[in-house]
Amino acid sequence: MKKLILALVLISGVAFSFTSCKGDKKADKATEAVKETAKEVKETVKEVANEAKEVAETATKELTDQEKAGLAIIKGKGGCVACHKDDAKFVGPSYKEVAKVYKEKNGNLVKFLKGGAEAIVDPAQFAVMQPNLEITKKMTGDELASIAAYIRSLN
Ligand code: HEC
Repeated sequence: MKKLILALVLISGVAFSFTSCKGDKKADKATEAVKETAKEVKETVKEVANEAKEVAETATKELTDQEKAGLAIIKGKGGCVACHKDDAKFVGPSYKEVAKVYKEKNGNLVKFLKGGAEAIVDPAQFAVMQPNLEITKKMTGDELASIAAYIRSLN
């Protein structure tokens, strides 16, 4: 009987140390995984923070008075927002795209809005834009320059 108890104690002792050892390994693995995840989360948080910073910087980018005046015309009497957005294609190309193409091709926005230059952004769709030139042609040089300044500010 004593032997049996001793044997049982021994077996359970070995079994216990075995499982606890296995448990330790498992725990180590889990700790490692948690550490790894924490690292990833940290990196993601960093990336998100950086993106947020960039967005905040663009959002708070101060417009000059001239650019502000241009934006007011685009939103107001120009009626341009019916077809144009700053960042995304709508009926017409985004103003960001317009700014990019005009910079690349050294185009003259005021001249285009006065009806004195050909479309260079999306000539195939010019028929949709053309009627608006009747509106912009009647604007003053200052007004057109301010529209152009606002569009250029998006590049
Ligand atoms: C009915 C829709 C519509 C309205 C309103 C509109 N546009 Fe457009 N616009 C377009 C389309 C479509 C294009 C693409 C065709 C083209 O490139 O000419 C375009 C193109 C342009 C371009 C690029 C021209 C080029 O060289 O290709 C400029 C600059 C522009 N629009 C400015 C304006 C301004 C400023 C107003 C407001 C006074 C305005 N648009 C109102 C539809 C519109």
